[in-house]
Amino acid sequence: MKYTVVLPAAGSGKRMKADRNKLLLELSGKPIFIYTLEVFEQDLDCEGIWLAVKGDERELIEQYVERYGIKKVKGYATGGAERQDSVRAGLEMAGQPEIVLVHDAARPFISPEVIRELAERAHESGAAIAGVPVKDTIKKAREGVITETVDREGLWMIQTPQAFRYELLMEAAQRAKDDGFLGTDEAMLVERMGHPVKIVESTYENVKMTTPDDLIYGKAILASRLQEE
Ligand code: C5P
Repeated sequence: MKYTVVLPAAGSGKRMKADRNKLLLELSGKPIFIYTLEVFEQDLDCEGIWLAVKGDERELIEQYVERYGIKKVKGYATGGAERQDSVRAGLEMAGQPEIVLVHDAARPFISPEVIRELAERAHESGAAIAGVPVKDTIKKAREGVITETVDREGLWMIQTPQAFRYELLMEAAQRAKDDGFLGTDEAMLVERMGHPVKIVESTYENVKMTTPDDLIYGKAILASRLQEE
């Protein structure tokens, strides 16, 4: 199933303890977001990539895109204060594809098989998101004391990509804006419309580069992939 992808890339380096956008940090000599772009560049079903970037980083990001020979970037939207604003800006520029994927530029290890499955499920049912079953024991605590052990059955850690029929996501995004609702992911906007969202089992490698220890994990993933080649 053909699709267009919107990549929010307008975050900061705060939790990464970096003095610049964490996506520009390098893993084995290449910026994190280039790995992400390469996955979509190589996927024959991907018809175009829209990047949401900070205004003052646009030129630098464009230079990287050119240097690494990424041809599918169709344009750049100006990101906003919240991730949801950045995604919305990207969606508004993306034309009107039948299927749109939203994927964090900070998740460079997404598998092509998961992308394919998501696009197909979204085509069938409107909305499908990537996730993995929770592995750890989950408890709730208040003031440092456990109040509840949560049953792990049916609990998922949600990732991106999140795939949608474009019209459905745009309607959900518009409603969220009208209501002043801020979700932590795109699926939440669709869920609050009462539309079912399918889950597609992804991989634990599809980690978001968020804190410094994620970089260690990222390097290990790259090393193990190189060994497999
Ligand atoms: O901060 P976090 O890691 O959750 O961000 C997820 C993705 O959203 C990253 O790729 C980041 O660049 C992007 N983002 C954005 N605009 C923001 C905040 C985050 O495009 N205002």
